[in-house]
Amino acid sequence: EIMRKNIVAGNWKMNNDLSETEELLGHLKMQMVKEPEAEVMVAPAFTNLYTAFRVLKDTPVIVAAQNMHEAESGAFTGEVSAKMLKSIGINTVILGHSERRAHFHETNEILAKKVNAAMEQEMRVIFCFGEELEDRKSEKHFDLVAKQLKESLYQISEENWKNIVLAYEPVWAIGTGETASPEQAQEMHAFIRKNIAEAFNDEIAENVSILYGGSVKPANAKEIFAKEDVDGGLIGGASLKALDFIEIVNSF
Ligand code: G3P
Repeated sequence: EIMRKNIVAGNWKMNNDLSETEELLGHLKMQMVKEPEAEVMVAPAFTNLYTAFRVLKDTPVIVAAQNMHEAESGAFTGEVSAKMLKSIGINTVILGHSERRAHFHETNEILAKKVNAAMEQEMRVIFCFGEELEDRKSEKHFDLVAKQLKESLYQISEENWKNIVLAYEPVWAIGTGETASPEQAQEMHAFIRKNIAEAFNDEIAENVSILYGGSVKPANAKEIFAKEDVDGGLIGGASLKALDFIEIVNSF
């Protein structure tokens, strides 16, 4: 039977200092139902990860990092390794977010190395990808998404797919309030699942969770999450408000 999970992950991006983190986590803890419908994750900035780990330790909420370096250690000033994350209880990491690709020059090739490093450390990866507006306008968005998957993920073993969560984030929907329609999301998610089935097998394709990201809000989450191949969302702005985030978590 299909075992893929519904997941709602909050990507806080570069927001919340220590006191704001403690306040938001306190509200989340209070509002979080014992057994939420979906698996719930929050991804604070590096400086707040250990606090989040400690505050959320006895709750169902998983804490994820927003990035990591591919090397185990060494002369990479400013970077953070998988082992360092694991040493503070963080076993999940977002990789390939469009903001990292755009502003920090993360290519499909570099991301393949990051994915491999995360797999070696048995970390769970939320792998982000998605097209720019001009790709969609020139109808190249399917080819581009297929390329992003192939060049950064298809080198991993069948076994390691259990540690992969996919997050399709059309760049033109991120932070813009311009959400993809449920139909657009479903069309691309179905394409992704078919692509994985062809590259690997039906079981892997059916069991991988594919999240949608890009201006998900309490008002639109239910309709998007109701789509057959949408297994939840990666939430930016709306994850910074406890009540909005909880409402999205309860949108299945
Ligand atoms: O990673 C999630 C983020 O890119 C989506 O941002 O603010 O459009 O929900 P937002």
